[in-house]
Amino acid sequence: MEKRDQMKQIRDELLDFKVSPLYVYRTENNYFPVIGEGSHDARIVFIGEAPGEQEAKTARPFCGRSGKLLDEMLVSINLDREKVYITNLVKDRPQNNRDPSFEEIQLYAPFLDRQLDIIRPRVIIMLGRHSMNYCFEKAGIKEQLEPISKIHGKVFKGKLSYGEVILLPLYHPAYALYNPNNKVTLFEDFKHVQQFL
Ligand code: URA
Repeated sequence: MEKRDQMKQIRDELLDFKVSPLYVYRTENNYFPVIGEGSHDARIVFIGEAPGEQEAKTARPFCGRSGKLLDEMLVSINLDREKVYITNLVKDRPQNNRDPSFEEIQLYAPFLDRQLDIIRPRVIIMLGRHSMNYCFEKAGIKEQLEPISKIHGKVFKGKLSYGEVILLPLYHPAYALYNPNNKVTLFEDFKHVQQFL
């Protein structure tokens, strides 16, 4: 099956994902699941936590305030948003932007796994601790996990089903929205991506 069709199948399954505790909240609010966007041949995949309100309303990842910051980060290293793939660990918006629960992560993560198997990126950039925790475990480097405050901006090597990957954990852009110091850190960390372009 073509990559596009495989992604469409994931979208269709998520549209009908009634087993999720977030499904009712989605339909009550006329929200959409947010599958992801970008190149299906991307070398670099960004993985956030879960859609916010703007994302759930439009079905596009990182299109609200955090997304503006991510766009600025991409511009800062001359990387086109269309060339990468941007998605989330959890595909539906948790109520009032609360953290996703362990059960929700378990439920949605297999969709992310399938997306990674389709795209086969060489570089995975995790935005925030939830996607960091998940991807480190998935890539077989769980023992190297530390709090994100310790390992943000550091480059790790791991292995997924299709081969070796580079993992770069970054603070979530929302963390930088209200604090200029955090923003400087995020942009500094982001410069590491340049070596993989
Ligand atoms: N925060 C995320 O983690 N993902 C989005 O898509 C938007 C905000």
